Amino acid sequence: MHKTPISLASGYGNFVVPAAATRAATDLLGSGLLEVLPAAGSEALRTALVAPARPAGAGPLSADNVVITPGAKAALFALLKTVLRPGDEVLLPTPNWFGFAALVEQAGGTLRTLPLDPADDYALRPDQLRAALSDRTRVLLFSNPNNPSGRLYRRPELAGWLTVTRDFPDLFVLSDEIYNLINFEAEPTPSLLDFPDPHGRHLVVNGFSKSLALIGWGAGYLVAPAAVARACAEWQHATGCAVPAPTQTAALAVTRQAPAIAAELLAQLRPNRARLLDFLAAQAAIPPALPTATYYAYPDLRAYLRPDLPPAEAAAGLLNRLRQAGVDVVDGTGCGTPGFARISYAVSEADLTEALRRLGGVLGGANG
Ligand SMILES: Cc1ncc(COP(=O)(O)O)c(C=O)c1O
Repeated sequence: MHKTPISLASGYGNFVVPAAATRAATDLLGSGLLEVLPAAGSEALRTALVAPARPAGAGPLSADNVVITPGAKAALFALLKTVLRPGDEVLLPTPNWFGFAALVEQAGGTLRTLPLDPADDYALRPDQLRAALSDRTRVLLFSNPNNPSGRLYRRPELAGWLTVTRDFPDLFVLSDEIYNLINFEAEPTPSLLDFPDPHGRHLVVNGFSKSLALIGWGAGYLVAPAAVARACAEWQHATGCAVPAPTQTAALAVTRQAPAIAAELLAQLRPNRARLLDFLAAQAAIPPALPTATYYAYPDLRAYLRPDLPPAEAAAGLLNRLRQAGVDVVDGTGCGTPGFARISYAVSEADLTEALRRLGGVLGGANG
């Protein structure tokens, strides 16, 4: 066992907090007087979050559609808690973020997965989606860009899904867009908010801890039809309190500088991205895959699993071997795809280089 294990498993990057955020928060703290904000959040931040122009046909949005929450997880929970009724199902295409299962369960829903095919680049075709929806499905939940696969669902694909969901007027469509600015393609990540919402059922969650480097500040937000947003704010008021003002001030500062901050993060990430993708491409037993967004790769390591064991057990065995070699990655079993592993490259160059050397030692060896 190596003395110092290297973690490529964290969901948070090694990003420095943007100076404008620290300044805004410390200025406010220095003023000696903190305002207790309304449960829905500061009007200035909520307005700034819906300020970017949307395509023609997308509905108008205002601060009334936004609630600032203590992280994106809290935004997801508030929405699920608000819209789920007993017996309701949440349909989740997989692989997907391991955190969704507990959120759905805690909110009283039942998770149903819709496995997508890695060999088909995790495409979700409209007819496949239609076949998976039933009267019991209350929410279609997805992340775009996808955590863990790094797959970006582009505008025509989302439009195809929405031709199906509009035939289900009681269905909520919930898009987690927390990695939206960590996108290495020329086209920006499309938001669900860019599309018409014929039944007032589109819900979006986002945050500041991934694309805007506000790690550890505890801020996220939801955008929803005004009545749903109001219910979420009431729930937050009844069960907690508004996100503290210094955090919201910092969130406003990074929101105003979002394009520049995201561009810097992408520039920081690019060399490590190339390093990890080159390493994976050089492993003959790993099928080619090109994540175009997020700071993860999600290689298919099934060739390295013991064939005599059930997939989840074999995957745990492989991850254990990687851990013993001094590298922690996320087990794809929790994301719905045993035998895959989520590997973050939002770490220092030195850590990634050494981690890849250790990984190479295991993956270059024999199976079993
Ligand atoms: C897809 C996704 N949604 C939500 C979250 C939670 O974000 P936050 O730290 O803002 O609560 C994460 C964090 O890993 C995530 O990956």
